Amino acid sequence: MPLTQKPAGKLISFEGSEGSGKSTQIARLAAHFQRAGREVLSTREPGGTEIGEQIRSIIVHNSKGDEMCAETELLLFTAARAQLVREVIAPALVRGVVVLSDRYLDSSTVYQGIGRNLAADPVAQINRFAVGNVMPDLTIVIDVPEKVSLARLKQRASDLPDRMERENIDFYRKVREGYLVLAKGMPERFIVIDGTKTEDVIEKKIWEEVQARVK
Ligand code: TYD
Repeated sequence: MPLTQKPAGKLISFEGSEGSGKSTQIARLAAHFQRAGREVLSTREPGGTEIGEQIRSIIVHNSKGDEMCAETELLLFTAARAQLVREVIAPALVRGVVVLSDRYLDSSTVYQGIGRNLAADPVAQINRFAVGNVMPDLTIVIDVPEKVSLARLKQRASDLPDRMERENIDFYRKVREGYLVLAKGMPERFIVIDGTKTEDVIEKKIWEEVQARVK
């Protein structure tokens, strides 16, 4: 299905490693938009649709998780995203809604491409195929050192310890650096926020940047 570019809505994606505080900041940014009178929809990846949740459970509950190859992982994440875009995100954008996405195509570029060493070109092509032309208007990377990610991860209960969160510190270092490289290459789309600051400081900074950059 070809997707037409969104007329009135805005798509803002949040990226960063686990434990970077994305979900807290998504809730706070949503509240700012709502106070400004905008309708907001928050989505999460992988999942957000029935088909996406089924795909998510394959990724999460594969008991011999280590055996899933990187290519399969890429195709599953992007398949879930393809469904989410067409079923939820694109229709919301057409209605003029502000969509806040907890992860989007840059997660595949960074986790599967850079983290799992898949070649950049096919990852980019598959990503593009999955999202059609629904690209984020703005991508907010909440940047935390890999040690902070791991420490925060250990404190939180998650349904994803099996595969995704078993990775070692080198993997998280690659993820962090991957996001910083992407952001540097596309400064018009990305902003990088220092995730070691307090939640209130981060919230204020994000809202300032969003007001300045998303009309
Ligand atoms: P989850 O606990 O749902 O969210 P988060 O860590 O963002 O709070 O974890 C999602 C996991 O899936 C996380 O380890 C990143 C990974 N992931 C990919 O590897 N590729 C992708 O394309 C996406 C969307 C996620």
